[in-house]
Amino acid sequence: MPRKRRVAILISGRGSNMLSLIEAARDPDYPAEIVGVLSNRPEATGLARARDAGVAVHCIDHKAYPDRETFERDFDAALARHEPDILCLAGFMRMLTPWLIERWQARMINIHPSLLPLFKGLHTHRRALEAGMRIHGCSVHYVVPELDSGPIIAQAAVPVLPGDTEDTLSARVLRQEHVLYPLALRLVASGRVRLQDGRVELDADWDEKAALVSPSAACSKG
Ligand code: GRF
Repeated sequence: MPRKRRVAILISGRGSNMLSLIEAARDPDYPAEIVGVLSNRPEATGLARARDAGVAVHCIDHKAYPDRETFERDFDAALARHEPDILCLAGFMRMLTPWLIERWQARMINIHPSLLPLFKGLHTHRRALEAGMRIHGCSVHYVVPELDSGPIIAQAAVPVLPGDTEDTLSARVLRQEHVLYPLALRLVASGRVRLQDGRVELDADWDEKAALVSPSAACSKG
Protein backbone atom coordinates (compact mmCIF):
# COMPACT_ATOMS: atom_id res chain seq x y z
CA MET A 1 0.00 0.00 0.00
CA PRO A 2 1.34 3.50 -0.82
CA ARG A 3 2.38 5.70 2.09
CA LYS A 4 -0.58 7.15 3.96
CA ARG A 5 -0.89 10.91 3.53
CA ARG A 6 -0.36 12.86 6.74
CA VAL A 7 -3.35 15.07 7.57
CA ALA A 8 -3.73 17.92 10.08
CA ILE A 9 -7.25 19.12 10.88
CA LEU A 10 -7.97 22.76 11.75
CA ILE A 11 -10.96 23.48 13.96
CA SER A 12 -12.52 26.31 15.95
CA GLY A 13 -15.55 24.60 17.49
CA ARG A 14 -17.30 21.33 18.26
CA GLY A 15 -15.38 19.28 15.71
CA SER A 16 -18.01 16.85 14.48
CA ASN A 17 -16.51 16.85 10.96
CA MET A 18 -13.08 16.37 12.52
CA LEU A 19 -14.40 13.27 14.30
CA SER A 20 -15.82 11.89 11.06
CA LEU A 21 -12.32 12.16 9.53
CA ILE A 22 -10.65 10.60 12.59
CA GLU A 23 -13.17 7.73 12.45
CA ALA A 24 -12.65 7.17 8.72
CA ALA A 25 -8.87 7.15 9.17
CA ARG A 26 -9.15 4.23 11.64
CA ASP A 27 -9.77 1.96 8.64
CA PRO A 28 -6.39 0.40 7.82
CA ASP A 29 -7.18 0.81 4.11
CA TYR A 30 -7.89 4.53 4.38
CA PRO A 31 -5.18 6.45 2.48
CA ALA A 32 -4.72 9.15 5.15
CA GLU A 33 -3.72 9.30 8.81
CA ILE A 34 -4.65 12.13 11.14
CA VAL A 35 -1.43 13.42 12.68
CA GLY A 36 -2.73 16.43 14.57
CA VAL A 37 -5.61 18.76 15.34
CA LEU A 38 -5.01 22.48 15.68
CA SER A 39 -7.38 25.13 16.94
CA ASN A 40 -7.24 28.91 17.09
CA ARG A 41 -9.67 28.85 20.04
CA PRO A 42 -8.84 27.33 23.44
CA GLU A 43 -12.56 26.90 24.18
CA ALA A 44 -13.15 24.71 21.09
CA THR A 45 -14.93 21.62 22.44
CA GLY A 46 -13.48 19.60 19.56
CA LEU A 47 -10.04 19.76 21.22
CA ALA A 48 -11.12 17.44 24.05
CA ARG A 49 -12.88 15.15 21.55
CA ALA A 50 -9.69 14.86 19.50
CA ARG A 51 -7.60 14.21 22.62
CA ASP A 52 -10.06 11.50 23.71
CA ALA A 53 -9.66 9.94 20.27
CA GLY A 54 -5.91 9.78 20.84
CA VAL A 55 -4.89 12.54 18.42
CA ALA A 56 -2.23 15.15 19.26
CA VAL A 57 -3.87 18.55 19.75
CA HIS A 58 -2.43 22.02 19.72
CA CYS A 59 -4.04 25.40 20.32
CA ILE A 60 -2.70 28.74 19.15
CA ASP A 61 -5.08 31.36 20.55
CA HIS A 62 -5.40 34.11 17.94
CA LYS A 63 -6.52 36.55 20.64
CA ALA A 64 -3.06 36.40 22.18
CA TYR A 65 -1.57 38.01 19.05
CA PRO A 66 -1.55 41.67 18.06
CA ASP A 67 -2.25 40.97 14.37
CA ARG A 68 -3.03 38.26 11.84
CA GLU A 69 0.51 38.05 10.54
CA THR A 70 2.19 37.16 13.84
CA PHE A 71 -0.62 34.70 14.65
CA GLU A 72 -0.29 33.00 11.27
CA ARG A 73 3.49 32.67 11.53
CA ASP A 74 3.16 30.77 14.81
CA PHE A 75 0.19 28.78 13.52
CA ASP A 76 2.12 27.83 10.41
CA ALA A 77 5.12 26.75 12.50
CA ALA A 78 2.86 24.59 14.69
CA LEU A 79 1.31 23.05 11.58
CA ALA A 80 4.68 22.37 10.00
CA ARG A 81 5.84 20.45 13.09
CA HIS A 82 3.26 17.76 12.18
CA GLU A 83 4.71 17.55 8.66
CA PRO A 84 1.27 17.28 7.07
CA ASP A 85 0.73 16.56 3.39
CA ILE A 86 -2.86 17.81 3.56
CA LEU A 87 -4.69 20.31 5.77
CA CYS A 88 -8.42 19.84 6.38
CA LEU A 89 -10.35 22.86 7.59
CA ALA A 90 -13.33 21.59 9.59
CA GLY A 91 -15.28 24.47 11.06
CA PHE A 92 -12.15 26.62 11.21
CA MET A 93 -13.62 30.09 11.69
CA ARG A 94 -10.59 32.33 11.23
CA MET A 95 -10.05 34.09 7.92
CA LEU A 96 -6.61 33.19 6.63
CA THR A 97 -4.43 35.63 4.74
CA PRO A 98 -3.18 34.87 1.22
CA TRP A 99 0.29 34.35 2.73
CA LEU A 100 -0.75 31.22 4.66
CA ILE A 101 -3.11 29.98 1.96
CA GLU A 102 -0.45 30.23 -0.70
CA ARG A 103 2.07 28.41 1.49
CA TRP A 104 -0.34 25.43 1.61
CA GLN A 105 -1.66 25.91 -1.90
CA ALA A 106 -3.31 22.79 -3.40
CA ARG A 107 -2.83 21.02 -0.05
CA MET A 108 -5.60 22.72 1.96
CA ILE A 109 -9.27 21.69 1.71
CA ASN A 110 -12.42 22.90 3.45
CA ILE A 111 -15.99 21.79 3.99
CA HIS A 112 -18.68 24.41 3.49
CA PRO A 113 -22.38 23.94 4.33
CA SER A 114 -23.92 24.88 0.99
CA LEU A 115 -23.91 23.81 -2.63
CA LEU A 116 -21.20 26.20 -3.78
CA PRO A 117 -21.00 28.62 -5.47
CA LEU A 118 -24.34 29.39 -3.78
CA PHE A 119 -24.29 30.88 -0.30
CA LYS A 120 -20.63 31.58 0.35
CA GLY A 121 -19.88 32.89 3.84
CA LEU A 122 -22.02 32.56 6.96
CA HIS A 123 -25.65 31.64 7.75
CA THR A 124 -25.93 29.37 4.74
CA HIS A 125 -28.98 27.44 6.02
CA ARG A 126 -30.96 30.58 6.83
CA ARG A 127 -30.13 32.02 3.41
CA ALA A 128 -31.12 28.79 1.63
CA LEU A 129 -34.49 28.86 3.44
CA GLU A 130 -34.99 32.55 2.61
CA ALA A 131 -34.22 31.88 -1.03
CA GLY A 132 -36.89 29.17 -1.15
CA MET A 133 -34.45 26.45 -2.18
CA ARG A 134 -35.87 22.95 -2.59
CA ILE A 135 -32.41 21.40 -2.51
CA HIS A 136 -29.48 22.42 -0.30
CA GLY A 137 -26.26 20.69 0.72
CA CYS A 138 -22.55 20.86 1.34
CA SER A 139 -19.31 21.07 -0.63
CA VAL A 140 -15.67 20.13 -0.11
CA HIS A 141 -13.30 22.39 -2.02
CA TYR A 142 -9.68 23.51 -2.21
CA VAL A 143 -8.95 26.68 -0.31
CA VAL A 144 -7.95 29.76 -2.31
CA PRO A 145 -7.58 33.34 -1.07
CA GLU A 146 -11.15 34.29 -2.11
CA LEU A 147 -13.63 33.04 0.51
CA ASP A 148 -15.34 29.69 -0.29
CA SER A 149 -14.32 29.99 -3.94
CA GLY A 150 -11.77 27.25 -4.58
CA PRO A 151 -12.14 24.32 -6.99
CA ILE A 152 -14.91 21.96 -5.87
CA ILE A 153 -13.96 18.34 -5.11
CA ALA A 154 -17.27 16.80 -3.99
CA GLN A 155 -20.82 17.80 -3.05
CA ALA A 156 -23.82 16.24 -1.30
CA ALA A 157 -27.41 17.44 -1.63
CA VAL A 158 -30.42 17.14 0.68
CA PRO A 159 -34.06 18.16 0.25
CA VAL A 160 -35.40 21.26 1.98
CA LEU A 161 -38.65 20.20 3.67
CA PRO A 162 -41.75 22.23 4.50
CA GLY A 163 -41.50 23.51 8.06
CA ASP A 164 -37.71 23.29 8.06
CA THR A 165 -35.93 25.65 10.43
CA GLU A 166 -32.25 26.54 10.37
CA ASP A 167 -31.77 23.83 13.02
CA THR A 168 -33.54 21.00 11.20
CA LEU A 169 -31.96 21.89 7.87
CA SER A 170 -28.45 22.26 9.27
CA ALA A 171 -28.78 18.88 11.04
CA ARG A 172 -29.80 17.23 7.75
CA VAL A 173 -26.86 18.82 5.92
CA LEU A 174 -24.43 17.96 8.74
CA ARG A 175 -25.30 14.25 8.46
CA GLN A 176 -24.19 14.43 4.83
CA GLU A 177 -21.07 16.46 5.71
CA HIS A 178 -19.97 13.53 7.86
CA VAL A 179 -20.23 11.24 4.83
CA LEU A 180 -18.86 13.69 2.28
CA TYR A 181 -15.70 14.88 4.00
CA PRO A 182 -14.18 11.41 4.54
CA LEU A 183 -15.06 10.56 0.94
CA ALA A 184 -13.44 13.72 -0.42
CA LEU A 185 -10.31 13.27 1.70
CA ARG A 186 -10.07 9.68 0.47
CA LEU A 187 -10.07 10.96 -3.13
CA VAL A 188 -7.45 13.61 -2.42
CA ALA A 189 -5.18 11.39 -0.32
CA SER A 190 -5.27 8.53 -2.80
CA GLY A 191 -4.19 10.85 -5.60
CA ARG A 192 -7.41 10.52 -7.56
CA VAL A 193 -7.85 14.31 -7.62
CA ARG A 194 -5.98 16.50 -10.08
CA LEU A 195 -6.05 20.27 -10.16
CA GLN A 196 -6.12 21.44 -13.75
CA ASP A 197 -6.53 25.08 -14.77
CA GLY A 198 -8.30 25.92 -11.52
CA ARG A 199 -10.71 22.98 -11.72
CA VAL A 200 -10.76 19.56 -10.15
CA GLU A 201 -10.51 16.44 -12.29
CA LEU A 202 -11.39 13.17 -10.58
CA ASP A 203 -10.88 9.47 -10.98
CA ALA A 204 -14.03 8.47 -9.13
CA ASP A 205 -17.09 6.27 -9.37
CA TRP A 206 -20.01 8.07 -10.94
CA ASP A 207 -23.70 7.19 -10.87
CA GLU A 208 -25.20 8.59 -14.04
CA LYS A 209 -28.75 7.92 -12.82
CA ALA A 210 -28.33 9.47 -9.38
CA ALA A 211 -30.82 12.29 -8.84
CA LEU A 212 -32.32 14.06 -5.88
CA VAL A 213 -35.72 15.44 -6.88
CA SER A 214 -37.37 17.72 -4.36
CA PRO A 215 -40.32 17.60 -3.81
CA SER A 216 -40.22 13.85 -4.33
CA ALA A 217 -40.49 12.44 -7.84
CA ALA A 218 -43.50 10.48 -6.50
CA CYS A 219 -45.53 13.74 -6.94
CA SER A 220 -45.43 13.32 -10.69
CA LYS A 221 -47.82 10.36 -10.39
CA GLY A 222 -51.58 10.79 -10.01
C1 GRF B 1 -19.88 22.66 9.53
O1 GRF B 1 -21.21 22.91 9.16
C2 GRF B 1 -18.96 23.01 8.40
O2 GRF B 1 -19.51 22.80 7.14
C3 GRF B 1 -18.73 24.49 8.61
O3 GRF B 1 -18.68 24.66 10.00
C4 GRF B 1 -19.41 23.62 10.64
C5 GRF B 1 -18.48 22.95 11.59
O4 GRF B 1 -19.12 21.97 12.38
N1 GRF B 1 -17.54 24.91 7.92
P1 GRF B 1 -18.25 20.95 13.19
O5 GRF B 1 -17.33 21.77 14.10
O6 GRF B 1 -17.48 20.10 12.25
O7 GRF B 1 -19.24 20.15 14.01
